[in-house]
Amino acid sequence: MLFETLTTSGHEQVVFCNNPDVGLKAIIAVHNTVLGPALGGVRMRQYANEGDAVRDVLRLSRTMTYKNALAGLNVGGGKAVILGDPKVDKTEALFRAFGRAVDALGGRYITAEDVGTDVNDMELVYLETEYVTGVHQVHGGSGDPAPFTAYGTLQALMASLQRKLGHEEIGKASIAVQGLGHIGMELVKLLRERGARLYVTDLDPARVQHAVAEFGVEAVGVDEIYDVPADVFAPCAMEGALTMETIERLKAKIVCGSANNQLANHAVGDELHKRGILFAPDYAVNAGGVMNVSLEIDGYNRERAMRLIRSIYHNVTRIFDVSEREAISPQYAADRIAEARLASIGKLKLPMGRATPRMGHLRGEQH
Ligand code: NAI
Repeated sequence: MLFETLTTSGHEQVVFCNNPDVGLKAIIAVHNTVLGPALGGVRMRQYANEGDAVRDVLRLSRTMTYKNALAGLNVGGGKAVILGDPKVDKTEALFRAFGRAVDALGGRYITAEDVGTDVNDMELVYLETEYVTGVHQVHGGSGDPAPFTAYGTLQALMASLQRKLGHEEIGKASIAVQGLGHIGMELVKLLRERGARLYVTDLDPARVQHAVAEFGVEAVGVDEIYDVPADVFAPCAMEGALTMETIERLKAKIVCGSANNQLANHAVGDELHKRGILFAPDYAVNAGGVMNVSLEIDGYNRERAMRLIRSIYHNVTRIFDVSEREAISPQYAADRIAEARLASIGKLKLPMGRATPRMGHLRGEQH
């Protein structure tokens, strides 16, 4: 049954890591290494059951293959999950044991932070393996990827405004931001600096209060965010925010946000397309974080990172072009572009993806 699933999803390798002495239960999924070593973060989460954890890591790692391919990166797609509550189960030993499991893959998988893990956890992983990104800058790392993801989301927003409204002036736009976490709050800051009118919401009232006091935005209820009269709806919270029910309520002409897997299913994307609501595919929009950490592999350089992240504007524009030309919805257009790159590079018959040791990283050099 599991092997059948892996055949359908196209995974190369799935590793179960079990160390009861330190409480480690983790799964590393290497989806595709055609373009290079599989790069993707490690999520720590208390799953309802082990089956949910397997499904999550398989889905997330596959998305990384598409995200990295579309972003033009020379890395493949992978992801890991640690089963546990990030609020109570984190220990040094746990992350070091995870680091050893990553190291044992010899560079086929490179990890980073994700939901439930952070830069400090990656520092512990780094004690055991070279194959980790998103470590502190003092170690040649790039730090927290969230501000870079937010900056990439801004590029995608400008490309979407240009396509739908014929201008890319954020200051002329009204935007509804759902979720004020690492990305949402940073995005609010970037958008307010450019003069946008913002409606915001979050489950956590303290975050909403902070955004109102700090950035002068308009707070709305968690459920009301779908109804506000904004040009853009920016989902920056959880997965599956877009359902047949929620899109029915949208006044926005554009959906563009950082959340992963925003569409509850593909039919929702088709429905958005039918209604003339422009959907900027999530994995193209939120690639800024992985673009940033990917540069750690051969020596991090912030200027290069910002340049790379600005290419999200062109990646999103290209998706819209293909969508219009082929009369397909943008999420299919994005998949098609990513698959075309994988197919053409796959023909090079490269040896198995392998990370090069980060020499600068080892020497603590600043590039
Ligand atoms: P986070 O966990 O810091 O923030 C999420 C925020 O959403 C929290 O403040 C939470 O209270 C709020 N929230 C949850 N459910 C909500 C709901 N129903 N309505 C309103 N607010 C709700 O996460 P982060 O890092 O800001 O990421 C946001 C999204 O972007 C996630 O989907 C994540 O997977 C995705 N993403 C993040 C990247 C990163 O660099 N951090 C990279 C790529 C994607």
